[in-house]
Amino acid sequence: MRYGYFDDDNKEYVIERPDIPASWINYLGVKNLCTVISHNAGGYTFYKSPEHHRITRFRQNAVPLDRPGHYIYLRDDETGEYWTISWQPVGKDLAKAKYICRHGLSYSKFQCNYRKIEAEQLLFIPVNDDVELWDIKIKNKSKKNRKLSIFTYLEFSFHHIEIDNQNLQMSLYASGSSFDNGIIECDFFYEPWTYHFFASNFDPDSYDCVRDDFLGNYRTETNPIAVENGNCSDSSRLGGNQCASLHKKLILKPGEETRLIFMLGVGSRNEKGRDVKKKYSDLKNVDKAFEELKQYWERKLSVLQVKTPHRGFNTMINIWTLYQAEICVIWSRFASFIEVGGRVGLGFRDTSQDIMGVVHSNPEKTKQRIIQLLRGHTSSGYGLHLFDPYIFEQNKNGLLDVKLPTVVPQKKSSDIIHGIEDVCSDDALWLVVSICEWIVENGDLDFFNYVVPYVDGGEGTIYEHLTKILDFSAKYVGKNGVCQGLRADWNDCLNLGGGESAMVSFMHHWALNVFVDSAKKLGEDGDVKKYSQVAAKVKEACERELWDGGWYIRGFTKKGIKIGTKESEEGRIFLNSQSWAVYSEVASNERAVKCMDNVDKFLFSQYGLHIALPAYSKPDDDIGYITRVYKGIKENGSIFCHPNPWAVIAECKLGRGNRAMKFYDAILPYNQNDLIEVREAEPYSYCQFVVGKDHKDYGKAKHSWLTGTAGWFYTAATKYILGIRPTYDGLIIDPCIPSDWEEFEVQRKWRGATYNIRVKNPRGVEKGVKCISLNGADVHGPVPIQPESSVNEVEVILGKANS
Ligand code: GLC
Repeated sequence: MRYGYFDDDNKEYVIERPDIPASWINYLGVKNLCTVISHNAGGYTFYKSPEHHRITRFRQNAVPLDRPGHYIYLRDDETGEYWTISWQPVGKDLAKAKYICRHGLSYSKFQCNYRKIEAEQLLFIPVNDDVELWDIKIKNKSKKNRKLSIFTYLEFSFHHIEIDNQNLQMSLYASGSSFDNGIIECDFFYEPWTYHFFASNFDPDSYDCVRDDFLGNYRTETNPIAVENGNCSDSSRLGGNQCASLHKKLILKPGEETRLIFMLGVGSRNEKGRDVKKKYSDLKNVDKAFEELKQYWERKLSVLQVKTPHRGFNTMINIWTLYQAEICVIWSRFASFIEVGGRVGLGFRDTSQDIMGVVHSNPEKTKQRIIQLLRGHTSSGYGLHLFDPYIFEQNKNGLLDVKLPTVVPQKKSSDIIHGIEDVCSDDALWLVVSICEWIVENGDLDFFNYVVPYVDGGEGTIYEHLTKILDFSAKYVGKNGVCQGLRADWNDCLNLGGGESAMVSFMHHWALNVFVDSAKKLGEDGDVKKYSQVAAKVKEACERELWDGGWYIRGFTKKGIKIGTKESEEGRIFLNSQSWAVYSEVASNERAVKCMDNVDKFLFSQYGLHIALPAYSKPDDDIGYITRVYKGIKENGSIFCHPNPWAVIAECKLGRGNRAMKFYDAILPYNQNDLIEVREAEPYSYCQFVVGKDHKDYGKAKHSWLTGTAGWFYTAATKYILGIRPTYDGLIIDPCIPSDWEEFEVQRKWRGATYNIRVKNPRGVEKGVKCISLNGADVHGPVPIQPESSVNEVEVILGKANS
């Protein structure tokens, strides 16, 4: 069953049926202001932090799914009938009304055609203005004059999630609203610097600032009394729940179209609202802002564009997977319909990984994130697992100045430093690789010398920070010489403590290799030697202790019991130990082939690779929380999405392009566009997990958008399937593709030069480069870095070298 389709020309996903079993969301805003919006215009807005500075309210996990939202009601003033431009909240009969939602890159457009009135509501946030614009078009398609009313509706939130959801004894009386000069203002009396406003490009006929006056008692957004009556009641109040409804009466002649603009912003009426109203009352400025937003994304996408024989691959890599990865870097794991804003801050491991996927398309934001993460890095080498970087920027943006009306002691930066008992053994290792990749991509070797303080005192260059990370992993090894698991490794639910984690040792080896490459480039010969020796030792321990005959074990409990071995009744084989043994280049070729064959044999399913099987059924706290989760859910035997791209990379390393594509395709959301009765979630976004085969909801995808899966699939697809990898010495082109791909093209911009890469596969191979030419001349090895602004033609023929 399908609910929509991919419109590649407009870079939109078009939802034709709004009665989807789940909310399909999109993200508006790329800097400070963010709106998470569903295909029914439900959702919420916040400024910088969904914990501290919420603007519109969301009733999470409620019934119906996605309320309230940013709505436009239309009313036929002759008949009294009313509807919304988005299907919900009025929810007209779908047999009589036509609704379309177009989710685009940082905008969503709702279209509706009912009773011969065509209406459109475009929502977006300009790149450089902290205001959400509602661009509304209404057209009379009938043959007579139509008398209509238009009403907006949004519900303001109390500014802090805590006081919006609990302890209302103060907040309910502490925010108020007023209407003046055509602008609604919502103020927070106890915090006189916080205001929100809502304005339009016309003089309203009536307004409501008070939610309950607009809706009416025992009514909801489905049947507001104001809309039913055809007039708001000009309400405003000091205290209570505030909303923003502006009402305008219209008469449209046959064929006539009108356009109205609404603006939701941060700041007071007088300091901000008036200027914004003036600026965006001019339609030219609205059009310009929308064009700038389109250009913003165009510039990012244009850094890497692909044309392969696989349509879904093209659509996802050229548009949606990069978009999702970028959203994760900007909004981390802060805000969705599942993560509703109470847990903010950067997850050390999550953000470190997110950075990797978009170093080419977002060098500024990823650089900022790197520095923020290093501010949460200790001098003993581990990172703070989850912290809000704003804590180091106190007083700089006002967020932490927020004093709640109920006294809660304020945290100091020293309060957030946790000890070894809360260290996740993988957290900081990711950052070694993402920093090196950022430097390779951007060619800024000097960044290694940038000095950042340690969170517990002292400071070091970025290069020194990285050595501390590698030294930490070398120090915290267990009895078998494998890295300790500590609080958790990448798998939050594998809590091994002093037991040992195979994955972390593999990761250590991987990070050491990447670091040694950089140390060589910097001429740090002592470190090249030292860390190469550490890498050799790690490899030796892994190969000695972790091979189990058919695959690699996942680790040891603190009592020394093996996890993920052929003798285990449950949790017999884990995906990450196999993919990481190969990706990290620890595994010998023979073992690599064998363990990945067993991945295919034991973990593959039509919806992707399971994280581990059989799922656990009995709690075992020596293994961890994983054993306390239902079978087939999350880390316990689901098709956890994030590890899937690592298996794709491993297959590419082995040269098995057909298998890599089989793994890629199984979990590709695009491929499930017509299978929504199973998938349920968005077909344009990866989810955190897909329910595994041991659960009756097998195949349902859960928890969309904010997952490291997007960045990693982008990496797997572009750097390993297409095989285009920047290095210090030039651009490596080493594809590993399905044998039936006859050719593909990539346009890659790198350090100011453009590379038009055409790859031909006349012999139908999966891997192997026969020859490469750059602007007509043969190249051996990586394609050398070309001058800025140059446009270069690169031809690659696959086959056996020199055959
Ligand atoms: C979630 C967490 C991530 C973790 C993963 C596996 O996605 O955000 O940090 O690695 O689960 O447990």
